[in-house]
Amino acid sequence: MKQAIVTGAGGGLGFSICKSLSENNFSVAAVDLNLTDSEKTSDKLNNTKPYAADVRDEESIISLYEKIDNTPDLIVNNAGIARFGKLLDQKLSDFQDVVQTNLIGSFIVATEGAKRMVKEDKKGSIINITSVHSVNPGPGVGAYPITKSGLYSLTKLMALEWGEYGIRVNAIAPGFIDSGMSKPFFENPKVRKSRGKAVPLQRLGSADDIANTVLFLASEEASYINANEIVVDGGVIHSVLMHLPRD
Ligand SMILES: NC(=O)c1ccc[n+]([C@@H]2O[C@H](COP(=O)([O-])OP(=O)(O)OC[C@H]3O[C@@H](n4cnc5c(N)ncnc54)[C@H](O)[C@@H]3O)[C@@H](O)[C@H]2O)c1
Repeated sequence: MKQAIVTGAGGGLGFSICKSLSENNFSVAAVDLNLTDSEKTSDKLNNTKPYAADVRDEESIISLYEKIDNTPDLIVNNAGIARFGKLLDQKLSDFQDVVQTNLIGSFIVATEGAKRMVKEDKKGSIINITSVHSVNPGPGVGAYPITKSGLYSLTKLMALEWGEYGIRVNAIAPGFIDSGMSKPFFENPKVRKSRGKAVPLQRLGSADDIANTVLFLASEEASYINANEIVVDGGVIHSVLMHLPRD
């Protein structure tokens, strides 16, 4: 069995990613800020162990890698947060927390993992969960889009530097996903309908849409895919011209 590490494992996308990996020959380290959150996922799955670690904190991540039995074959940087509000109203501490979690946290988890992979000559894959905000920043979500485009840039840089060790690094940019941090937003039927209709495929995405893409990128079938961001959004980021008024 291959060893996977999934951060943010207690959340909406994290659960589906852990589930699909655990059902497909991966032993999964389900990592979240609190053990109870990791256990919410691991208790429901086979081949999955819960761990508590804070991606913002280098010491916490070093100690996490010391606890996990095997050097990872796959790292999924999925932990992420958003602090809503316009830039003029943002508290600096919120802005910094989003950068520290989404961007610096992903850097810490990936580099600490890659150091161990290189040392053991273990080839593998790192997948960073970004967002459609990495391509087209939406207003009103503070630092979130900046961290996601930064994470895509970091993805490319890591891919360039670590390709020689056989480590592939890619990103997945989810669109409007009816799960996790967006679930409360889509509970409003009006928002749900209008957002669903804005997507060329006429539906919101699911956590499984993202988990399936993780599984593909982690597989041998994707062994020549590197330094990419796969946008999983039903086509919405390319739909501007579709929404212009017509005579
Ligand atoms: N749900 C969506 O619509 C959507 C769309 C685009 C991108 N994303 C991205 O997908 C990823 C997962 O989001 P989700 O929707 O499942 O959100 P979620 O809030 O359900 O899950 C996020 C998880 O990350 C954990 N986490 C937060 N800070 C952490 C830290 N410092 N250390 C360790 N764990 C931490 C949380 O405890 C939570 O369990 C995020 O990176 C998010 O930006 C989600």
